[in-house]
Parts: sequence; structure tokens; C-alpha cells
Amino acid sequence: MDRKLLIAANWKMNPVPDGAFEQDSPYKTHSAVDVYVFPTFLDLPASIESKIITGAQFGRAEETGAFTGDVSMQMIKEAGCIAVLCGHSDRRAFHGESNEDVAAQAIAALEAELHPIVCFGETEEERDSGKAENVIKAQLKPLPTESDIILAYEPIWAISRGDPNKPAATSEDAQEMHAFIRSQLPEDKRESTRILYGGSMKSENAQELLTQPDIDGGLVGGASLKPDDFRKIVETAIKLTTNN
Ligand code: 13P
Repeated sequence: MDRKLLIAANWKMNPVPDGAFEQDSPYKTHSAVDVYVFPTFLDLPASIESKIITGAQFGRAEETGAFTGDVSMQMIKEAGCIAVLCGHSDRRAFHGESNEDVAAQAIAALEAELHPIVCFGETEEERDSGKAENVIKAQLKPLPTESDIILAYEPIWAISRGDPNKPAATSEDAQEMHAFIRSQLPEDKRESTRILYGGSMKSENAQELLTQPDIDGGLVGGASLKPDDFRKIVETAIKLTTNN
């Protein structure tokens, strides 16, 4: 089955990159490849107004209530977002989100008719001690994988690696884990579910990663803040799609 590549820009807590909301923005989507952008909450309206496919970086599972500082999935949908990140490793680390919290967010996102992009992945220590697959199984277990969700495998040890001595995951490492993740999905969703890779994807390694059979796009952090780099990643994805 052909799974359309999705290149998603997670700007985290950073200002909007130069020119992102202008006419020739590299963050606009394409017919051949989906492009989604995840700005801060404050930048969502401007992103939506400039016809960028926009998502929120977090949404709370409950619809309303005494949850100071949070925003619900329904509110995100009503603001004009298409998607939402659930369980990014920053949220798991800094806000203590558990696998069950993340699953509840994904379910609430589906109920609000948002596309949940559920992030998960192992730490360096878990990988080194041979626990990566078990950690991932536990992260996947409570998720509504029988529904149309998007997964983003982001090995924590491969995120924000600018140091050449500590490279991102190799395309072989990533492919091996993506194939494992796919094998854990319900049979009728195995072929159709998109599994993105996140962790130091940049213009230099995008082609190698995106040509792996079980990698269906990227969730890009650092390189998504550099419009020229991001444009190259999207162009690579378009080239791979149209050459097929
Ligand atoms: P980097 O691309 O900066 O490694 O970030 C990955 C990430 O966390 C995207 O959500």
C-alpha cells in the first residue's frame, strides 16, 4: 500500500521562522506530500490564516474544567487545527505524561476529529540495556491503534544531535525499529498506518531515512526552524514520491 509521506515541523517553544507565513513559504503543504506545522499555541492563528496545515503541540484529554494553563482537543479543533502531537518526549519528561495519559489524549483527539500524531521512543539507557522493544511495546499498548492515528518514533537518544560524534539514528537503526513497530499494530492497520521518524532529521539524511520501507515521513525539530533546510527535506520527499 502507498502511504503518503508526511513531513511535520515541530517548532517546539521557538519563534516562527523567517518567512514561514509568506506566500512562498516552505511550510505549505503539497499534493504529493503532506506538510504539517506545529507552532506554539500563540502562533496557531497566524499559521492557520496563512493556509498552512496547522497542529497543536499538546492537547488535554478533558473537554473543559479546572486545568489551568491547558487547552482541550475540542478547543484546538475549533481554532482551526487539523492535528495534534500527543506524548512528545518533552511533554513526557517535563510534564510527567504517562503512556495512559498519552493514550487518553489520542482518544480525545480522535473524538474531536483531529489527527493525533503520537510520539514515543526509548532512552539511550533503555536501548543500551536491550530494553528498547519492551519499552516501545508498553508505549504502544494503551494506544487506539485500531483507529486512524499517526505514529512518530522518536528515539530520545537521537533527538537534537548536532555533534558529529553522536550521530542521529542510522537509517538501518530506524528502519529496524519501524518494522518492529509496524509488526505490533493490529493486522488491518499494519499497512495503512503512517509511522514518522523523528530525531535529527535534516536535509543531509532525509533521503536515506525516507527511502526506508517502513518510514513514512519525518517529525522534524531543529531543521524545521531553518526554512532552507526544511524546504530541502520537503523537496526530497516530493522527489521520492514523484519518482516512484
Ligand atoms: P530534532 O529534529 O531537533 O532532533 O527534534 C526531533 C523532535 O523532537 C521533533 O519532535
